[in-house]
Amino acid sequence: MILHKRTWLGLACFGAAAAALLATVSTGVARGVDAGTESNAKAEVEAETDPALERTREQVQMLDGLYKNAVVSITTRYVAGQDEQPAIMVAQDIFGAMRKEGWHSAKLVDATGEPLDDANAPRTDFEKDAAREINSGKPYFDRVVGEGNDRRLLAATVVPVVMQKCADCHTHKKVGEILGFIRYDIPIK
Ligand code: HEC
Repeated sequence: MILHKRTWLGLACFGAAAAALLATVSTGVARGVDAGTESNAKAEVEAETDPALERTREQVQMLDGLYKNAVVSITTRYVAGQDEQPAIMVAQDIFGAMRKEGWHSAKLVDATGEPLDDANAPRTDFEKDAAREINSGKPYFDRVVGEGNDRRLLAATVVPVVMQKCADCHTHKKVGEILGFIRYDIPIK
């Protein structure tokens, strides 16, 4: 639960919107794959037996805080209305740069069935499964793929409508409802 505390401390500097985004996510990651006590125990066992996996999950949590705070901050400070460039454009630039440098791949994926851009619809099996899990109320969902040195963590963290400005453009959803998720694909090292 140390992680949780650190997140809340960090949030003191940011707006309520970023807090709302991150509160759900950090709880999800701290708990492990699924909600509930069974997976709580599972996550604890994994932490002891698979420290590399645990480190990678922490990395997801850190990146998630960085990306989401950036998007909320850019939206708050610079995006005045529907005609402006949305903060997702900056996020996509950074996703592209991180991927090019070989750090990780990240993508903003729709979970409403009505994306503003069809390119953001869930495509892979993992993205389709994640859309279902996120819509069923889980703030976080992940899966390990590959073997040995090629293991990767696929993870999804919920993206709700955190402020009215989001809904000004994403008009089919209201504040508090789910828009999508960030999908991460990170090497487990
Ligand atoms: C100025 C308008 C605008 C605002 C404000 C805005 N978005 Fe978007 N959003 C877009 C556009 C346009 C796209 C599609 C971008 C593309 O071509 O990939 C998009 C894409 C997305 C997607 C991917 C699914 C889809 O619909 O394509 C998510 C999830 C998303 N935005 C979440 C948010 C959140 C959360 C906020 C508030 C913090 C927000 N958006 C604010 C315009 C906006």
